[in-house]
Amino acid sequence: MVDLPHYYDQEPAVPSAPERVRLALPDVTLDLVTDRGVFSRGDIDPGTKLLLLEAPAPSSAGDALDLGCGYGPIALTLAHRAPAATVWAVDVNRRARDLTATNAEAAGLANVRAVGPDDVPDDVRFATIWSNPPIRIGKPALHDLLLRWLPRLAPDGRAALVVQKHLGADSLARWLTEQGFPTTRLQSRAGYRLLEIGSKQ
Ligand SMILES: C[S@@+](CC[C@H](N)C(=O)[O-])C[C@H]1O[C@@H](n2cnc3c(N)ncnc32)[C@H](O)[C@@H]1O
Repeated sequence: MVDLPHYYDQEPAVPSAPERVRLALPDVTLDLVTDRGVFSRGDIDPGTKLLLLEAPAPSSAGDALDLGCGYGPIALTLAHRAPAATVWAVDVNRRARDLTATNAEAAGLANVRAVGPDDVPDDVRFATIWSNPPIRIGKPALHDLLLRWLPRLAPDGRAALVVQKHLGADSLARWLTEQGFPTTRLQSRAGYRLLEIGSKQ
């Protein structure tokens, strides 16, 4: 049994206490509301920042996925960089989804859909997947999660995942390759690996 952090709750019980953070990137600055019961309250996670600084440009149109959107820093950056794309911001945590929707509206990003995992239509295929995935759910659950979403990459789609080295980034990369998803390491910095993954061969 994995002891999950409270920010993976579907309905966080901790009282709300919103706090603003500024996400400053070379191409965009976003003021975002975070909250208790949601990952990385009051801060931009360093892994998320690495992904946003170093991931290759997303596909300019089609559908994109932020798997585990939290309060939305990845989804909103995707939506800004690919204004003609539809960005599916998926999270099990309702408070996280609500924050992402509110933050997208405040930023004028109408192309973000903040939804639960079962609310993405089955026929949607993703040109881009970006994720700081929920590693702490444990390896079997993480593998199930990735095997649910990565097969939905479009044939020429690309995924970028950021994972801490000490939480198993290198063994995850090997496992992804064994599953038939070509995986390369794009960056290694400050204890994080940025992995790029292609569609299944
Ligand atoms: C490491 S956090 C990243 C949050 C946000 N993208 C960021 O960069 O700040 C991972 C997120 O995955 C969510 N999550 C956990 N299990 C999930 C699942 N089965 N499906 C979708 N999201 C999940 C958690 O609630 C959490 O918000």
